[in-house]
This record gives sequence, structure tokens and C-alpha cells, in this order.
Amino acid sequence: MVGGGAGAFIGQVHRMAAELDGMAQLVCGAFASDPERSVRSGTEIYHLPESRCYPDFQTLCSAEAQLPEHQRMQFVVVVTPNHMHFPVAQAALQSGFHVVCDKPVTLNLAQALALQQLVEATGLCFALTHNYTGYPMVREAAALVQSGALGEIRRINCAYLQGWLAQETSDNKQADWRTDPQRAGSAGCFGDIGSHGENLISYVTGLPVTSVCADLSTFVPGRALDDDGNVLLRFSSGARGVLSASQIAVGKENDLCLEIYGEQGGLEWRQSDANSLIVRWADRPYEVRRAAWPGTSEAASAATRVPAGHPEGYLEAFAEIYRNVCLHLQGQPHQGFPGIEAGVRGMRFIDAVVASSAQGAVWVDV
Ligand SMILES: NC(=O)c1ccc[n+]([C@@H]2O[C@H](COP(=O)([O-])OP(=O)(O)OC[C@H]3O[C@@H](n4cnc5c(N)ncnc54)[C@H](O)[C@@H]3O)[C@@H](O)[C@H]2O)c1
Repeated sequence: MVGGGAGAFIGQVHRMAAELDGMAQLVCGAFASDPERSVRSGTEIYHLPESRCYPDFQTLCSAEAQLPEHQRMQFVVVVTPNHMHFPVAQAALQSGFHVVCDKPVTLNLAQALALQQLVEATGLCFALTHNYTGYPMVREAAALVQSGALGEIRRINCAYLQGWLAQETSDNKQADWRTDPQRAGSAGCFGDIGSHGENLISYVTGLPVTSVCADLSTFVPGRALDDDGNVLLRFSSGARGVLSASQIAVGKENDLCLEIYGEQGGLEWRQSDANSLIVRWADRPYEVRRAAWPGTSEAASAATRVPAGHPEGYLEAFAEIYRNVCLHLQGQPHQGFPGIEAGVRGMRFIDAVVASSAQGAVWVDV
């Protein structure tokens, strides 16, 4: 693991998710930018032997590459702020290690394209943790849309609303880099969670966004990046959509929802009731599909671990990315996971959103 040191958020989530199915184990890392804090985080938080807690990611890659094959790490998990994704992923791939990286894939599109070339040149595995695609009922939604049962898709609504950045923050590690263009990239809220919305839409519908008309705002005075925005979406099929994302929606938790309407039917999914999928029909009452019941798709069943009614959630969905990466590395059949192409598409989307808004909400091709 690179990142995930003392006081970090998502590193611990990755550790739990990676280890949930007993297919992977955290064995080493460089956990912070400061060498001493890096080693201390590894021994104190992750209880690793000091010999496998490295001062920096360069030493991690070179030292692990020297170990006998059966002892060395097999893949590197990148959970640093965005500006460090590219250098860490590059070092890992160049040292012969597969990569699991958090989103957005890089700081900018040029880095994402360079990374894509490197992934293709090395032939190594690159997974991007758009973890919401791992929910059973998101898998069910994708299977339903792609079966054609809803008919031609016409309208897509997606919203990801949070409230945790509604006020100016000081002394908040997570807020600090997310509001700094040097470390977060050209978008704030839209890079951080709008990117999840774009990925979710494209995963469920299979339709890439072709153009956007974006209105981003910065409500908190002095903040350098957007903290709220609404984006109109057009798809090559003729479908239309709206993606809203906010980090100033006071009191909202992680309210991610997706609605899709086709010619014959529609669907609705919300993270706050993640094991339900509402399906609407033109000619009969709506139905609620639930995780772990017979009749759900193979993709949904494969992402379910316990009988119906035992709540599965965020960690299990996150673990689904890891389980499929591990199956892939073992050469076993699997349900897939987002890769470098999803990362590049996400960066093109962020660029188009920022450009559209900067020009006064004009239509911009992705
Ligand atoms: N998939 C998701 O749902 C999700 C959720 C939260 C965060 N993220 C992503 O995960 C990444 C980390 O976010 P976070 O909220 O955990 O941030 P954080 O600030 O809590 O943690 C970042 C960690 O990286 C370490 N770090 C910084 N530079 C480093 C370097 N050069 N070498 C080693 N470690 C270094 C920091 O010391 C810290 O421990 C971001 O890219 C973010 O977008 C994804």
C-alpha cells in the first residue's frame, strides 16, 4: 500500500476490502510522505514487520522487486492524494507490479494517457476502485439495462450529494488537499465525487457521455475549486441526462442515487438502501428487487455474500473490486472491474465539465 498512513481515510477501507475474501493480504507499504511517519504507520496501524514498512514508494518498489518471487508483494494499492497517483503507479508498473489505484486516476488527462500507454506496454493489471460498481443491486441494474428489458434508454438522473465541506475547514487532512488544485486537479467536488457519478452511469448503461453543459459553483469563500455543480449530459445514442454533485448540501451523508428511464421501464437505486433496486414498468406496478433473492442476475448473485436481509454495504462492494482483481490475477473467470480505460474516460469527462463551466455553461464534447 502507498498512502493510508496515520489519520488517513481510505487506506483502512482498502485493507479491509482487500482482505475480506481471504484472497489478498497487506504485506508491506510506504504509508506517508514523511519517511519516519511512513514506517511508524505501517508498524502501529497495520501491525506489519518494520522490515516491510518502507520510508517512501521508490524504496518500496525497488526493495520488493529484489525479494524472492514467493515473498514479494504482487500488486501495489495507491491511496494517496490524487497528485501522487501517477508517480506511484508508474514506479510500480515499471518495477513489474500490478496496480490497484483509487480515483480519479491521475491529476490530469495527460498523466492518464501516459499511464494508459504504460499499462498497455507492460501488460500488467491496472484496476481503478470505482467501488460503487461492486454493489449487487448496481450489478443488477447494469444487467437489467443491458438485457434490453427497459427498452432504449432515454433519460438518466444521477446525484451524489454530501455536506461535509459546507463550511470553511481548517485542520482537516481530507479537506485540505481536496480543495488544492495542485494536489486534487482541475476540479474539486466533480473530480472527487462527480467522477463516481460519471463512472456509475457509464457502468450501468454502457453509454459513454459524449458532451456536457456544466454549471459549477464555489460557495465557500476563498475556496479554489468547485464545491457544487449541475451538468447536463448527452449520449451518442440520443439519451439525455443530468449529473448533480455537491459537497455543500448541508447534512447530506453520502447520498448517491441513480435513476434510469427507458422506453418500457425505469429503475432507481440509492446507496442509503443499497440492497434494493426499484424497477418501474409502463404497464404494471413497480417492483422492488432485493439482493440475495433467487431471480436476480448472475452478476448480482456473484457480488452477494450472505442471505437476504443481513445488511451488506460499502465495504463488501469495495471488496468486490478486489475479489475480481484477485480472480483475474489467478486466471479465473470473474465479473470484471474498472480499469485504465475507465480512468481515462473519467479524466476526459472532468476536463470537459471544467471547460464547459469556465466558458459559461456551453456544450463541450467529452
Ligand atoms: N473510492 C472512494 O470511494 C474513495 C473515497 C475516499 C477517497 N478516495 C481517493 O483515495 C485517495 C486518498 O484519499 P483519502 O481521503 O484517504 O486521503 P487522506 O488525506 O486521508 O490520506 C492520504 C494518505 O496518503 C499519504 N501520502 C501522501 N503523499 C504520500 C507519498 N508521497 N507517499 C506515501 N504516502 C503519501 C498521506 O500521508 C495520507 O496518509 C484520493 O485519491 C481520493 O480521491 C476514494
